[in-house]
Amino acid sequence: MEVQQVLHMNGGAGETSYANNSTLQEKAISKVKTIVEKRIIDLYCTTFPKSLGIVDMGCSSGPNTFLTISNIIDAVDKKRRHLGRSSPEFQVFLNDLPGNDFNNIFKSLAGFYEKLKQNNGPDFGPCFIAGVPGSFYGRLFPTESLDFVHSSYSLHWLSQVPPGLENGRGGVLNKGNIYMAKTSPPAVFKAYLEQFERDFLLFLRSRSEEMRAGGCMVLTLLGRRSPDPSSRECCYPLELLSQALMEMVSQGIIKEADVDSFNLPYYTPSVQELITVIETDGSFHLDQHEVIELNWDPNDNDNNEDSVFDKLTTGRNVAKISRAVTESMLANHFGEVIMDDLFKKYGENVSEHLTKEKTKYVNLVISMTKK
Ligand SMILES: C[S@@+](CC[C@H](N)C(=O)[O-])C[C@H]1O[C@@H](n2cnc3c(N)ncnc32)[C@H](O)[C@@H]1O
Repeated sequence: MEVQQVLHMNGGAGETSYANNSTLQEKAISKVKTIVEKRIIDLYCTTFPKSLGIVDMGCSSGPNTFLTISNIIDAVDKKRRHLGRSSPEFQVFLNDLPGNDFNNIFKSLAGFYEKLKQNNGPDFGPCFIAGVPGSFYGRLFPTESLDFVHSSYSLHWLSQVPPGLENGRGGVLNKGNIYMAKTSPPAVFKAYLEQFERDFLLFLRSRSEEMRAGGCMVLTLLGRRSPDPSSRECCYPLELLSQALMEMVSQGIIKEADVDSFNLPYYTPSVQELITVIETDGSFHLDQHEVIELNWDPNDNDNNEDSVFDKLTTGRNVAKISRAVTESMLANHFGEVIMDDLFKKYGENVSEHLTKEKTKYVNLVISMTKK
């Protein structure tokens, strides 16, 4: 699978679209808002630059696309007013893979510029926004041109399926699983970790060339607290999806070999694994790292173990969110025709699981400064 060609969030504005199923990611952005605002204000107040170069990496296309950018701009504008200074220029870049719906973003730009003017007055800006298609696992910007790098819910996607697992041909067989799981052989965990380390190192090396000294980076990604890569906190949602696929195998709808040969290009690191790569790269100072937990269903605001939230509805909600994100890759391998059935079964598995145990997504937030 060519990840760059195949991976994209579900487009449009329909029932299964990312635009209509991205409240989990929106919750993560709002939980990290204060960290982002503090970092950008500290950065602005250190040198009062005439111009700020800001990028959101893995911006997708939907209601979240402008959210962080708008938070960053509003925070700086509020501060400079408070200090009685003139507005800096904002150079904003929205990056994602080429298959992302950039046209939709460009069509929303006029409305966004208008909103910025209304919120911040005529003496604001100017602000220039550009789309940058390409993989963040490589150079995308000129040397020392960026001040602030943000990315949310994107860096757990790898650049490729780890070599050796791709199609299971002559390599390691991850039998009955589509990601690392309790039953995966040790070579699967090794292959995933090594791919993550290569990718994250390339990400940091590329940003270290593109960012100015003193520049800041805030990254949020799915991960785990436990050092154990097969821990339920990170693997279980996809184990339930594997189970749904295996149910379809037992019903003769899909072939077992097709499940065995499919592995998602995804990795949920531990904090220590992130820190090890940051230290290997050596060009960033790690300022802060935090763990934020979110319920699998973002509509469930109840933190109690024995939440009365309807588990059937919850299962369906979780399945819709997962579908908007993973469907492009699953449909490419198993065919579009099984998707409704697959995610119905997955929703049922999630509901059943949540009646026994309330599990949460572990989000890692790291904030760094370019040395
Ligand atoms: C779940 S979406 C998150 C979108 C948005 N940041 C949000 O919080 O709603 C993940 C995005 O990361 C993008 N992505 C994954 N790998 C990427 C890569 N190597 N380079 C750039 N974008 C990537 C995907 O295309 C997708 O749009």
